[in-house]
Amino acid sequence: MYQQMSRSIVITGGAGFIGSHVVRLFVTKYPDYKIINLDALTYAGNLENLRDIERSSNYFFEKANILNPDDIDRVFLTYQPDGIIHLAAESHVDRSILSPLDFVYTNVIGTVNLLNAARQHWKNDVKEKRFYHISTDEVYGALGETGFFTETTAYAPNSPYSASKASSDHFVRAYGETYHLPVIITNCSNNYGPNHFPEKLIPLFINNIMNQKPLPVYGDGLYTRDWLFVKDHAAAIDLVFHKGKDHETYNIGGFNEWKNIDLVKLLCKLMDEKLGHAPGTSEKLITYVKDRPGHDRRYAIDATKISKELGWKPSVTFEQGLSQTIDWYLQNTEWLKHVTSGEYQQYYELQYSK
Ligand code: NAD
Ligand code: TYD
Repeated sequence: MYQQMSRSIVITGGAGFIGSHVVRLFVTKYPDYKIINLDALTYAGNLENLRDIERSSNYFFEKANILNPDDIDRVFLTYQPDGIIHLAAESHVDRSILSPLDFVYTNVIGTVNLLNAARQHWKNDVKEKRFYHISTDEVYGALGETGFFTETTAYAPNSPYSASKASSDHFVRAYGETYHLPVIITNCSNNYGPNHFPEKLIPLFINNIMNQKPLPVYGDGLYTRDWLFVKDHAAAIDLVFHKGKDHETYNIGGFNEWKNIDLVKLLCKLMDEKLGHAPGTSEKLITYVKDRPGHDRRYAIDATKISKELGWKPSVTFEQGLSQTIDWYLQNTEWLKHVTSGEYQQYYELQYSK
């Protein structure tokens, strides 16, 4: 069975938000590929995200921690992957402010462990191999009112999260230069969509509106993010994995900048319509709270390179993507109930009771 499959690809962090969309896309689009989801199942990892495809014959789940080289070795020995798509990470800026070392361990050391395994197992033959590292636009720091991040923008991370991702990007690049590992990196803007853990802005606010809880807007609410629908990010990852060039970086973005407060008002309007509430009902929940320390003012990606070289562009407008996202949360209240019990309550208390 294994031998008949044309490729063997390990996707790390496949039980998380973006990873689960990438796993689903690859499992369904490439039935002749063996897709291995390597995930430690932290608070952010949830196999419920993959219920619909978990019985597919080309899908394999391995509970493994990238902090443990033996775990990684076991997966390499069992599946002999020729491709790695690396998404496993600690991904939340606010948690990185509360606990920076967790980010150093998983994002930096975990990535180096994975690079070492690829180097060791592929050493004699890197032809047709690919180590694809998924990163963020946050490594570039903050923009003023104008301008965009390009692939040549200097790194200037401001949060422990972005510093750890920047560091992991540098290690990936260095392994490409020093050991000729066939690496590729993409830096993407903020994602949104189904299965997003409800501690990030959009799913947190959808969940709070559903529960008539305050919507905590940090600072003056005039911070800007460039939002991309998660399925469009997964499509970009598919394209880069198959068509991207070794040792290149590609920026991925939504061409879709929103100030937080404008986004929150749009979300409130759509939620009122979908819940049958009078216009203005949800906006009353908006509460300005203490700002995030080191809060980056504006992110905006120039995605010209991936668009021109690989022909990628987003497939949905923000209004369409947001509407689909809200519908998913309204239809998946059990999923929400499961992920917001236990540890979530403790985090929420710590983050918002100040
Ligand atoms: P997420 O937090 O939803 O999921 C992370 C996954 O990694 C979880 O399934 C978790 O269990 C797993 N994981 C964490 N530590 C691990 C470890 N030590 N070993 C094995 N697995 C581990 O994250 P996400 O939002 O889906 O982000 C995925 C990747 O994309 C990250 O690398 C992130 O930096 C990057 N990214 C995210 C965004 C965004 O808007 N969410 C934007 C650009 C880039
Ligand atoms: P977030 O979803 O945490 O993504 P990131 O920090 O990686 O961009 O936050 C998006 C924006 O929303 C960011 O400017 C911080 C802001 N925000 C709030 O105003 N309130 C909140 O409760 C959260 C979680 C975020």
